[in-house]
Amino acid sequence: MKQLLKMLDLSTEEITEILNLADQLKYELKNGIPHKHLEGKTLGMIFQKCSTRTRVSFETGIYQLGGQPLFLSSNDLQIGRGEPVQDTARVLSRYVNGIMIRTFEQNEVEELAKYGSVPVINGLTDFSHPCQVLADLMTIREYKNKIDGLNFCFIGDGNNMANSLTVGCLKMGMNVTLACPTGYYPPDIILDFAKAYGDKFRIVNDPVTAAKDADVVYTDVWASMGMEDEVEARRIAFRGYQVNDEVMAVAKPDAIVLHCLPAHKGEEITEKIFEAHADEIFEEAENRLHAQKAVMVLVMGDKEQS
Ligand code: CP
Ligand code: NVA
Repeated sequence: MKQLLKMLDLSTEEITEILNLADQLKYELKNGIPHKHLEGKTLGMIFQKCSTRTRVSFETGIYQLGGQPLFLSSNDLQIGRGEPVQDTARVLSRYVNGIMIRTFEQNEVEELAKYGSVPVINGLTDFSHPCQVLADLMTIREYKNKIDGLNFCFIGDGNNMANSLTVGCLKMGMNVTLACPTGYYPPDIILDFAKAYGDKFRIVNDPVTAAKDADVVYTDVWASMGMEDEVEARRIAFRGYQVNDEVMAVAKPDAIVLHCLPAHKGEEITEKIFEAHADEIFEEAENRLHAQKAVMVLVMGDKEQS
């Protein structure tokens, strides 16, 4: 694995390799076993959007691996004044050993990777959020002791999370059902990918239909970062697209609930369901650390790479 730009780029074997290493690193951290695989290495982290989890888990993670982070806000970088991403990539590649980027357009991540000469990790774009999905898959495996054959349901916007979850969950053998309002489906590139999985993928309008017999119920905000102008329109369009008692009543009795966070309680999820499943949701947040450490070791480390 040379870099992490989107879930579509990863094979099932690569995802499994990341999850296995993430489990190992989590065990090592909890048991005080040193794992400084990135001694002396620097990760540049470009943020064009806000972050709590991604920033803190990458910063802490690289420290734990023996390296150091460089937080690069777009407000401070020349990129914020119009320096092209292609030039930024070529400059940063001469200083750092890897670059994580959170931005708007997926194309910017692809260009950074094309022009840079160090590994690039996508820390969220409007199209995808692969780091989050790797932590999600890790969490699902932890709670269910398997992934293959489970029923996965996503309720809400056909956004970066729905896109990456659809791809990641299908690649790992899950049955995926999305409940999205008409007009808010994932883009064709995702729907075309998913359709190749036949009966294992469904997209419906009704959240209760989608949640029937689900092992995992997932949701995300109605309006993502960058959609601030659409908040009111989306409140109307997504009314009813909520993980609540009615939805959970048809899911399997031992279903887990996941949320990438931040959550808007009372919108996409009720406070009651959120708190009832807080253990899973915050384990999921913790697993960002372990999954991203695995990604960094695989793309930036000297370990044999597949
Ligand atoms: N889930 C997630 O990416 O959180 P942040 O926006 O806080 O990084
Ligand atoms: N869909 C959300 C995910 C946040 C982690 C957003 O892009 O804002």
